[in-house]
Amino acid sequence: MADQNTAIDALLAEYRVFAPESKFTEQANISDPDIYARARKDPESFWAQCASELHWVRKWDKTLEWNPPFAKWFVGGKINACYNCVDRHVMAGKGDKPAILWEGEPGDAVTLTYSQLLEQVERFANAMRKLGIVKGDRVAIYMPMIPELAIALLACARIGAVHSVIFGGFSADSLRERINDCGAKLLITADGGWRRGQVIPLKAAADEAISNTPSIQSVVCVRRIGDMAPISMHEGRDVWWHDLMRESSESCVPEPMDSEDPLFILYTSGSTGKPKGIYHTTGGYLTGVYITSKWVFDLKDEDIYWCTADIGWVTGHSYIVYGPLANGATCVMYEGSPDTPTKDRFWKIIEKWKVTVFYTAPTAIRTFMRWGESLPAGCNLDSLRLLGSVGEPINPEAWIWYHKYIGKERCPVVDTWWQTETGHIMIAPLPGITPTKPGAATRPLPGIDAAVVNDNGEEVPLGSGGYLVIKSPWPGMLRTLWGDDNRYRQVYWSRFPNLYFTGDGARVDNDGYFWLLGRVDDVMLVAGHNLSAMEMESVLVEHDAVAEAAVIGRHDSIKGQAPVAFVTVCEGVRATPELAEELKAYVGKKLGAICKPEEVLFSAELPKTRSGKIMRRLLRDIAEGRMLGDTTTLADPTVVATLKKRYTDGEG
Ligand code: WT7
Repeated sequence: MADQNTAIDALLAEYRVFAPESKFTEQANISDPDIYARARKDPESFWAQCASELHWVRKWDKTLEWNPPFAKWFVGGKINACYNCVDRHVMAGKGDKPAILWEGEPGDAVTLTYSQLLEQVERFANAMRKLGIVKGDRVAIYMPMIPELAIALLACARIGAVHSVIFGGFSADSLRERINDCGAKLLITADGGWRRGQVIPLKAAADEAISNTPSIQSVVCVRRIGDMAPISMHEGRDVWWHDLMRESSESCVPEPMDSEDPLFILYTSGSTGKPKGIYHTTGGYLTGVYITSKWVFDLKDEDIYWCTADIGWVTGHSYIVYGPLANGATCVMYEGSPDTPTKDRFWKIIEKWKVTVFYTAPTAIRTFMRWGESLPAGCNLDSLRLLGSVGEPINPEAWIWYHKYIGKERCPVVDTWWQTETGHIMIAPLPGITPTKPGAATRPLPGIDAAVVNDNGEEVPLGSGGYLVIKSPWPGMLRTLWGDDNRYRQVYWSRFPNLYFTGDGARVDNDGYFWLLGRVDDVMLVAGHNLSAMEMESVLVEHDAVAEAAVIGRHDSIKGQAPVAFVTVCEGVRATPELAEELKAYVGKKLGAICKPEEVLFSAELPKTRSGKIMRRLLRDIAEGRMLGDTTTLADPTVVATLKKRYTDGEG
């Protein structure tokens, strides 16, 4: 704790403040600070006003129905998310405006105007209908970052099918588990995708996954790679995207959805093994992502907006697809990684498309810092006018680097805190109003009632730390966990009565600014991705050689955290370096490459409390090479000393 406090004090000693430039404020979507007070005075009317900027087929009768912890927003309203993201802009005469500027890893490119996007979405929506998909059916999506992915989401929204995107980096087993949990009828995939010059064989993984998914009736496959990724098509089950599109008509009336009808399910890691199906509905979610894109990214008609996330994560759902498209923005979308073909790929993309608003993650920024400022300096970044950050706390050093070498000290930096569960940004600066401090997400957005509380759920005084909670419902909040109201109650609403528990630690400084300090549970943030220690542990103990396992997130200067596994082997098994490698590969195979432990450490025993709980805090101390903390509650304190000695002596 002492170490942690010193680190926090160092963080809060960050004294630099960057006030918005008047040139920015003059043109900003939000320039009147009174917006906070207005929202506080009457949150429901405030959100109703935000919602009324969207197109509703039928206006709602009641803004909010709150039966804690279950919320309904814009009750009785009818709306279609796809119509709002696509048709509406075509109707408004913006049909020829580019909606998506896409660039594949091999350098291929596609531009889709709003009219073209509409045509493709309508065709694919009809194709799904022909496959028997009706309103309420779940559709699993396992695709690379190609335009068809965005088209698939929007087409689902158009006909009222509930999409569940599974990130293409997840394994066949993870895909199967999620498909079975939501009972998806259709799976949309591709032969493969490109990453770092390699083909990611998605269809092969999909085939493996659906060998045991009784609900899946058909599979649609996009041909992305072609001859270099030979695949097999299963007669009577699998169809090519392109064949379907050719045969489908291009007119499809959008389904008027109830405001509280589901829009999507997105799985995220919890602190227990089983992934949580975060359940989002239509009217509130769309209002939230629409209005926050407009406020925080200051989106204007002329903007070229680029969020570098993958649509497999919530950032891509909310801030590549629904939020920016609901604003009629032009969005850049890319496939691959920042270092392929060259390490200046991002800066080249910004230069090429004249990107004005750029949204990425601290882990990427820290990687760019390591590569040096000459790479961005070699490209013309003059078009940029606003920079965003998301996924984990941004350290002040990375903030300053981003501001200086990418934003050339002219662009506001918006650090945005939110979660899969919150649906949209919750704590972030309003770039025309809020002075920023490097490392702080600043203040809760207008209409968002966030606080930092102590163990008893009491708000802490300014200048202190505790747990981040949300005190009142907000439009984009998850409605429940798919099929598991009890777990929803237990995970988010049981820690503190009547407060939504985020799982994050935070501090408020004397100006009331929020400083996020990371997870307080056993979820780790690896390169901005939320991974569950427990899930990795369950996989490890499935391996024949493993008796017991504990996984922790070790501090990593690039990724934020890196998974490290402590393993006890079964009687008679030899703990060899080969076995360590095998276990890493095993976890990678079972859960996906991003979950692969960076290190496997063998130990004769794991440190446990007298009640048998593994003491992760101590393991973290060991893995990070720190002095040992308090070990008095340990059943056998010598375990830790032995472990530490082995680790530091490198005997592993
Ligand atoms: C967790 C949510 C939000 C989309 C991407 C991640 C951490 C996220 C920040 C930030 C500090 C952040 C939190 C949160 N986090 N953004 N700006 N500052 N921490 O979504 O996978 O649901 O993860 O990411 O710990 O709880 P997610």
